[in-house]
Amino acid sequence: MESRRKVFIRPLVIALLACVAQAAPTDPVHAPRAMVASVHELASRAGLEIMQAGGNAIDAAVATGFALAVVHPQAGNLGGGGFMLIRTAGGSTHFIDYREKAPAAATAHMYLDAQGNVIENASLVGYKAIGVPGSVAGMVYGQKKYGKLPFERVMAPAIKLAHDGFPLAWEDADELHDPNLTKFPESRRIFQRDGNYYRSGEIFRQPELARTLERIAKNPDDFYHGEMAREIAAAIQKGGGLITADDLARYEVKEREPVRGTYRGYEIISAPPPSSGGIALIEMLNILEGYDLAKFGNRSAEAIHLTAEAFRRAFLDRAEFLGDPDFAKIPVAQLIDKKYGAAWRSSIDPDHASPSKELHRPGIFNELERYATLHPQPRALPEPENTTHYSVIDPQGNAVAVTTTLNDNFGSRVTAEGLGFLLNDEMDDFASKQGVPNAYGLIQGPANAIGPGKRPLSAMTPTIVLKDGKLFLVLGSRGGPRIITTVANILVGVVDYGMDIQEAVNAPRFHHQWLPDKIFVEPGISPDTLKLLDNMGHKTEKQGYWSDGECIAVDPKTNERLGASDIRNNGKAVGF
Ligand code: GLY
Repeated sequence: MESRRKVFIRPLVIALLACVAQAAPTDPVHAPRAMVASVHELASRAGLEIMQAGGNAIDAAVATGFALAVVHPQAGNLGGGGFMLIRTAGGSTHFIDYREKAPAAATAHMYLDAQGNVIENASLVGYKAIGVPGSVAGMVYGQKKYGKLPFERVMAPAIKLAHDGFPLAWEDADELHDPNLTKFPESRRIFQRDGNYYRSGEIFRQPELARTLERIAKNPDDFYHGEMAREIAAAIQKGGGLITADDLARYEVKEREPVRGTYRGYEIISAPPPSSGGIALIEMLNILEGYDLAKFGNRSAEAIHLTAEAFRRAFLDRAEFLGDPDFAKIPVAQLIDKKYGAAWRSSIDPDHASPSKELHRPGIFNELERYATLHPQPRALPEPENTTHYSVIDPQGNAVAVTTTLNDNFGSRVTAEGLGFLLNDEMDDFASKQGVPNAYGLIQGPANAIGPGKRPLSAMTPTIVLKDGKLFLVLGSRGGPRIITTVANILVGVVDYGMDIQEAVNAPRFHHQWLPDKIFVEPGISPDTLKLLDNMGHKTEKQGYWSDGECIAVDPKTNERLGASDIRNNGKAVGF
């Protein structure tokens, strides 16, 4: 748990250093035709290179995704999973689900001891925490179906970065000190040079990863059905993990219908289950639509109070209803119904906080009553940073929002031996025991219990917003459950407070997730405001900075692409 706390506080240090060492972005990056925003400049440039070579936004997104697996091993990945939301210039939308799956040998109680208690860290660190990875399948599927260039061309920037190496930024070198990486000899050898840790500015080369990427470029099927699948399974089983070559062979990408809503006339297109992100986001926005937030004022106590109350209610529903739609019936239509949002809104006291334990769901839909379960007592846990998001728009107006993850920073910390890539700890996103919080302090219900072949519930929220039917925003972030409220903060910043996309990404964030019953706030929200919130009955907790919004807006007048990489981190938006 020590490393979690360190990771959580670090972005504050990074942001302060960034402010001092380089001009922090206060304006979006302007480009007339195309833009990529990601957490690492080299990954953004990989996408740009591919568009300049004639590729479309999907080609670029896949190039950025593979490049992130090289330059951002904290969350960029081959051994994890993700969601890709596409809106083509013609207006069709596609959602590609390549979330990890539980192996066939997984059982509901695999992380419980003989007394039925959750075994600490078992679903977080090491071989048993690994879910069947989906990223390679998802990126290959997306590129082959919606891209234009030969797959090998799209892989070329990532292969070069792994082969030639790249200079490590101070914070990336620092994060490689992760003590859990040290526990696994292959991870210690590759990422920590057997204890001779990399320093800022040193070139980090990854020859095994370069070879793996070359093999995937030549034969993408190898990862799931060939020699590479057998190597991955053997490496995991040698360490006591459950994944077999058969699990890899059975992995399938799913195309799903994105969820859709509206907010003050803007169209919202977002992630469906097994993500909770789109449903929770639309539910929050439905509740907020009934308030004139602009009148209360940006980051005023009234506006934070009402927004946090909307967050609280959507997170209660998230806990009860959401999971893998292939295994549990999810009442999507009811949860994102505007009537349901209005009913929730009428339960909000404009002057007082609603204690989470006293919340009662509005009884307007019988289906929701039928699915509802009881909530045991919570306990709060620290929340790590994790996951990564990137956004792309190409010259034709195709847009892609991708959020991808290993779950924790560096995932399970296990590197696939001989293959040079890290494997996820996504099994922690299941409810190991119903009613007991996971690493994010989140309580979850039976819809998200562990089961063979199931996909764990996610908070990843790649989102596209239309204005007057035209592409307007491409949004997303990292941050565990804070992903959802980060996207909501950014969207409300643009729509209600008239911020430009960079201002909205930079603005101080606040978060409520039903339990623990607290409003978490970033620095930058005034002590007077916090006092007013406390007087309304809220518990406020000031923390460091969190999340990483990597977003793009389209200027409705000029059609320019406006890229916004989060001021809190080291990413970059690049365009042409
Ligand atoms: N592992 C983070 C998420 O999927 O929400």
